[in-house]
Amino acid sequence: MKLSFTRASLSSVLVPLIFNSNLVRPISCSSVSCSPASAKPQTPLFLRSPTFSATLSDLKKWQDWAKTLASSVGSSFLDSDNGPDATLLQREFNWLIEDALEHPKTIGITDNDKKNMVVTLRADLEDLYELWKQRIEERRPFQYIVGCEHWRDLVLSVQEGVLIPRPETELIVDLVGDVIKDNEGLREGLWADLGTGSGALAIGIGRILGSSGRVIATDLSPVAVAVASFNVQRYNLQDKIKIKQGSWFEPLKDVKGELMGLVSNPPYIPSEHISGLQAEVAKYEPRLALDGGSNGVGSLLHLCNGAVSMLKPGGFFAFETNGENQCKFLVDYMETETEGCFRDAKIISDFAGIQRFVTGFRAQ
Ligand SMILES: C[S@@+](CC[C@H](N)C(=O)[O-])C[C@H]1O[C@@H](n2cnc3c(N)ncnc32)[C@H](O)[C@@H]1O
Repeated sequence: MKLSFTRASLSSVLVPLIFNSNLVRPISCSSVSCSPASAKPQTPLFLRSPTFSATLSDLKKWQDWAKTLASSVGSSFLDSDNGPDATLLQREFNWLIEDALEHPKTIGITDNDKKNMVVTLRADLEDLYELWKQRIEERRPFQYIVGCEHWRDLVLSVQEGVLIPRPETELIVDLVGDVIKDNEGLREGLWADLGTGSGALAIGIGRILGSSGRVIATDLSPVAVAVASFNVQRYNLQDKIKIKQGSWFEPLKDVKGELMGLVSNPPYIPSEHISGLQAEVAKYEPRLALDGGSNGVGSLLHLCNGAVSMLKPGGFFAFETNGENQCKFLVDYMETETEGCFRDAKIISDFAGIQRFVTGFRAQ
């Protein structure tokens, strides 16, 4: 478990991807344009060339304006839907500075003689005003504004049309790390990440598998496929991870019965709960990534049934759920309805102590 105050660990104060009466969903960060989702991956702000400039004095005016706007929020978002408060928004603004300025420390220079010095930026100052307005006034997620999310030790590109990976999902990579440690078959085998989104799980797992280990990651969304491919290439993992577009197991027909591992964080929010989520999530994140149908378990059941024929005997699976009841339902289904196909089905809690994951093995 990470205890250091990194940008990734701090984003865990945002709401997790679950819904119940006490816990709503997380979000915080930001991409430079607010164009409709396209299948063209956008370059995150921090990776853009610093081809823009502004004087230090103009930059400080922007900073003062942005801080005042963030302060004006107080706890109103928190009170209405568990959204970010002014303190979190101020922190996000500091991250925006880190991503937007070539040399972020220059904004801290107080020497009056330097007020006309030229500071180089990765976006036009006018666009930076617009982005911060979108963050506060429209509640556009911070991650879509900057076009990335810090997740484990990765910085993943994200944009509208792709789910922002959540901190609780990081644990699946640790669970996989535990099972492959002493099992060469798992470590060197073929894995699948179904509904890969930004590619977070596929990349996290691809990096810890052995030299022969491979991952196939699938998603129905063309935007997710484009963004996951961008992220896989950025981490130079294209020889280890293949991204395929299609529904769940459909792109994996030619590897039936050959998977040594299967992970998925499918859509699991009951449809009727979506409108009650934090505004950043309900307004901006893709419905395809959230909506689990009337009771939220449709995709999980499909994955569970598919795992019977797709996994090799001894193969491992880990599924993320909406928590508690969905976990119990799934384990009960595996034990009673799949006729001994699985063994050691277990419920695992996330860092917040919520029963979140179901793991187990395909029986021999
Ligand atoms: C909750 S998101 C998880 C994304 C990513 N794995 C993560 O943890 O950040 C669910 C993903 O499943 C994808 N999805 C939804 N229905 C699908 C289907 N029928 N086949 C494949 N992927 C699907 C969505 O596009 C979305 O990327």
